[in-house]
Amino acid sequence: MTPASSKPRVLTGDTPTGRLHLGHWVGSVERRVALQKDYDCYFLLANMHAFTTRFDRTADIRQDTIEIVKDWLAAGIDPAQSTIVLQTEVPAIAELTWYFAMLLSFKDVMGNPTLVHELKTKGLEEKYSFGFPMYTVGQCADILAFRPVFIPVGEDQEPHIEMCRKVARKFDQLYCNVSDRTADQDYEKAGGLFPIPKALIGRIARLPGVGDGTQKMSKSLNNAIYLSDTSKEVQKKINKITTGRQSPTEPGNPDNILFKFVEAFLADPARIAELKDRYSRGDNIGDGHIKQELAQSIDALLEPMRARRVEFEKPGGDDVIIDIIKAGTKRANIVAEETLYRAKQAMNMDFGKRTIS
Ligand code: TRP
Repeated sequence: MTPASSKPRVLTGDTPTGRLHLGHWVGSVERRVALQKDYDCYFLLANMHAFTTRFDRTADIRQDTIEIVKDWLAAGIDPAQSTIVLQTEVPAIAELTWYFAMLLSFKDVMGNPTLVHELKTKGLEEKYSFGFPMYTVGQCADILAFRPVFIPVGEDQEPHIEMCRKVARKFDQLYCNVSDRTADQDYEKAGGLFPIPKALIGRIARLPGVGDGTQKMSKSLNNAIYLSDTSKEVQKKINKITTGRQSPTEPGNPDNILFKFVEAFLADPARIAELKDRYSRGDNIGDGHIKQELAQSIDALLEPMRARRVEFEKPGGDDVIIDIIKAGTKRANIVAEETLYRAKQAMNMDFGKRTIS
């Protein structure tokens, strides 16, 4: 492990709620793997966020936290290159959350479109806790504790990132004398503690789940292909895709669900173009054939992940994961404590440096 790196920082995270699927891969995880070499990357396990909705099932949160790290490592995140961070063991995040809660209006938080959507769709509307909406402020702290330049996330996270940018601007203006006419990219240069970070949205904004294409891929809708699925499971699930097309000679719609998958997972653009062309002309090309090619391609993506996963499925695998989490979090605390110290200085809230270990 290299100590404090001079590369620009990247931060993103996942709430541990279950295994990662292909929607996560194209939405963000693929990007993370690619960024590791050129950026100082921090990948956060948002177990405190999981607690906001599952405080009555904490044993599950603990196991899901370990499992998601297995998914990350299988996917190609390299703990020798990147830092894996456990949210609950970074006290600076909880502290910054408190300060940041004052820099946002109640309306900013309660009007956050992703939050509003969650309250509606998760049946939380009448019964969510006082603390639940706080996770959105917490996410600003998750991010800003590391002062990153980029946040690779799926499209649904954009409102959170916008809120975070708002907090960063407000803090820099209020406590670091940065003018409100400063361009976003110049905040640090102008003396701000926080750079205004940018979201990097994944290459496929919304991957449908296997089915008729009306739902997005999601664990709760039972239509997901997981990174940990076997070849057989992949094939079986791909076969659940339905287009309504009757025969290989029927002209098909090259924008249908099947082709959303083709575009997401076939590697060769020329082959994609050829399939689209033949499909739309009904040039003797069956859905079944395309599904087979698709399953093979997805399998080729998942095979190296399966191979890497074997290590952690052995007895004692969880302990290896816990050690990786501890080592990463220790490193993360160096950066987050430095941020908190500087933030407290800027706010006149510091009374000397502290050390945590
Ligand atoms: N809210 C994100 C999700 O559910 C997870 C998350 C927590 C996150 N903290 C973050 C993402 C910070 C990016 C940056 O997917």
